[in-house]
Amino acid sequence: MDEEFASERSEQARGGVTRRKFLGTTLIGGATLFAGGSKMIFAGDPPAAAENDTVFRVGGDLPVNRLGFGAMRLTGAGIWGWPPDRDNALKVLKRAVELGANLIDTADAYGPETSELLIAEALYPYPKDLVIATKGGNTRPGPGQWVPNGRPEYLSQCIDKSLKRLRLERIDLYQLHRIDSKVPVEDSLGALKKAQDAGKIRHVGLSEVSPEEIERAGKVLPIVTVQNQYNIDNRKWENVLTYCEKEGIGFMPWSPIGGNRGLHDNALEAAAKDYHASLVQLALAWLLHRSRVMLPIPGTSSIAHLEENMAAAKLKLSADDWKRIDALAT
Ligand SMILES: NC(=O)c1ccc[n+]([C@@H]2O[C@H](COP(=O)([O-])OP(=O)(O)OC[C@H]3O[C@@H](n4cnc5c(N)ncnc54)[C@H](OP(=O)(O)O)[C@@H]3O)[C@@H](O)[C@H]2O)c1
Repeated sequence: MDEEFASERSEQARGGVTRRKFLGTTLIGGATLFAGGSKMIFAGDPPAAAENDTVFRVGGDLPVNRLGFGAMRLTGAGIWGWPPDRDNALKVLKRAVELGANLIDTADAYGPETSELLIAEALYPYPKDLVIATKGGNTRPGPGQWVPNGRPEYLSQCIDKSLKRLRLERIDLYQLHRIDSKVPVEDSLGALKKAQDAGKIRHVGLSEVSPEEIERAGKVLPIVTVQNQYNIDNRKWENVLTYCEKEGIGFMPWSPIGGNRGLHDNALEAAAKDYHASLVQLALAWLLHRSRVMLPIPGTSSIAHLEENMAAAKLKLSADDWKRIDALAT
């Protein structure tokens, strides 16, 4: 079981309320809220205006705003079943799109099924530019439990079922949730290649993999994204990020703001205040600044947190300020 899913964490423990008041909804319109002495600069332009900086082309042909949304947290406790407030979950999804998220990450295992179903309920018919990235290959015996199954016949079924739940004719990005140690990865990916050849999926990504595994997978079919755990406080997969940069592969860090545990760093939190930002916002802006292939997918079930998180894309710091943050973060 991934420990990230182990327990729910209270908003207060992360200081969410304070931070939300700081920036939260106020930054959504961008612009110069803190003009007159603040070191913080908020770009007021819509994301598409500065394509190089804010947009990444998944697989070379699907432009997405680099700050996306993760839909795992919209399910019930233990990433199981329906959320306690289903209307709220639908509102969060709609608001995410309104705020410019056009890369939404999900998986058949979230719920299971409920995350994909909520996405379709909230957003279908989909905006033209929306990229839904789902995953298969992880089964759910119960709340908080995750067991890989990479058998090709199972994955083929998963793809057909995700297509139905998402009401799609083709899935833009299909990710192998986990490599199953009991099945040669060539066999698992063979099923995805078949689905790709049949027009059921457009691009393929991997999750929690090493550079060697990406290379091996790349011999079966092109790998356009990798989704590994990574944040300002956890750089275990730095080598994978470097590999993705070299190969032009999108890197989707999961737990970009620390997952269940959150981020706890007094020095960074204090620095964030200098930029009139929350620690969460600084951590997301740091990821976006860290690499042009970085596609963070922060997850939340709260509209206020969503607004706070999406505003992070507008946080612009000078090169000197980033040097200061990097020094604090290492
Ligand atoms: N490939 C994989 O194996 C894998 C594994 C895990 C996750 N993922 C994907 O990655 C996405 C993100 O990962 P994650 O959800 O584990 O981690 P995360 O985005 O780093 O953190 C989400 C947690 O932070 C809280 N939160 C969100 N915004 C906040 C804010 N502004 N202030 C305070 N708390 C805030 C959320 O609670 P509230 O709901 O209360 O806001 C939630 O508990 C998931 O949605 C999923 O799509 C992939």
